[in-house]
Amino acid sequence: MSKYEEIQESLIKEPKVWLVTGVAGFIGSNLLEKLLKLNQKVIGLDNFATGHQHNLNEVQGLVKESQWQNFSFIEGDIRNYSTCEKALEGVDYVLHQAALGSVPRSIADPITSNAANITGFLNMLQAAKEAKVKSFTYAASSSTYGDHPALPKVEENIGKPLSPYAVTKYVNELYAGVFAKTYGFKTIGLRYFNVFGKRQDPNGAYAAVIPKWTASMIQGEEVFINGDGETSRDFCFIENTVQMNILAATAPEEAKDKVYNVAVGDRTTLNELYYAIQAALKECDVIVTNEPSYRDFRAGDVRHSQADVSKAKGYLGYSPEYRILEGISKSMPWYKSFLNLATTSKQA
Ligand SMILES: NC(=O)c1ccc[n+]([C@@H]2O[C@H](COP(=O)([O-])OP(=O)(O)OC[C@H]3O[C@@H](n4cnc5c(N)ncnc54)[C@H](O)[C@@H]3O)[C@@H](O)[C@H]2O)c1
Repeated sequence: MSKYEEIQESLIKEPKVWLVTGVAGFIGSNLLEKLLKLNQKVIGLDNFATGHQHNLNEVQGLVKESQWQNFSFIEGDIRNYSTCEKALEGVDYVLHQAALGSVPRSIADPITSNAANITGFLNMLQAAKEAKVKSFTYAASSSTYGDHPALPKVEENIGKPLSPYAVTKYVNELYAGVFAKTYGFKTIGLRYFNVFGKRQDPNGAYAAVIPKWTASMIQGEEVFINGDGETSRDFCFIENTVQMNILAATAPEEAKDKVYNVAVGDRTTLNELYYAIQAALKECDVIVTNEPSYRDFRAGDVRHSQADVSKAKGYLGYSPEYRILEGISKSMPWYKSFLNLATTSKQA
């Protein structure tokens, strides 16, 4: 039995109370779905800045009515300290996901990203320490590697941040380290590398590459590749990310006060990604014949990214179950039905 299976069994036997911030977003709503399916009690906090009520509605439809009764939602903002305090009442484990994602968003508006990602983070960290929660796991980011050229990325070797977003995520790690030293409050940071899967928003100026391209292909629109297409990423399917959150939340003391890469250890170029999505859509009877269009590189983007995931394997028993192609195949039917539904409701 894997570590992950063992933990799931023990959680089912002895359910816990979880706080998921950013619960109406992509990663948060996938965490919610998994936790409710494990019969956990979940408190969700979100201000709908980039999250959606329809993500919560979808989760409701995917779990039993009795499991849905274990969920309570607080619409609120992590920039408000008393909201954080209220959300933390009776909580065992915190999975802090709420933040404003996207490098370009942070370049366009660094002040708002700073407020959500740094002030909001500090509020949650301080309130969680005061509430004496059993564990605090937060969404860090691979953007913290910045301009460090080494591949694969090893947690201990980081460079200088390349965007305001990267600064905010690095500051989270600095605060987390200082809270461990000064207050003995030990947390775990998960440096996500390009997570993808169902419920990742395909709409808006700051959509991530996989949902954005998938939507364009399904809707017969032009797909733009920034740069020559040889930029590469370690794309990580959402189920691997959910696994890491559950392993981190329940980790033993010696695994705390650390950050971990969350990825697979693979590297896929944007050109390869384009054809992988095209092939997976064909399996869902969506035929895409267009070739991509190339345009300038995007400011703040790292050229290559690939994780070394041995630290997470060693300390947490992480075992990524899905590689990119399986993840893409699993995600495409969701995008097809989500976008068809959106078109039908627009026409109605
Ligand atoms: N998706 C990725 O590839 C990736 C990579 C690295 C790090 N991350 C981090 O993972 C976390 C989740 O990202 P996601 O992809 O699910 O994004 P998302 O935008 O889908 O989810 C973020 C959620 O946080 C909420 N939120 C934002 N500001 C808030 C505030 N002030 N108060 C309360 N709620 C607020 C949003 O409404 C949204 O529901 C973020 O911290 C992000 O920075 C994501």
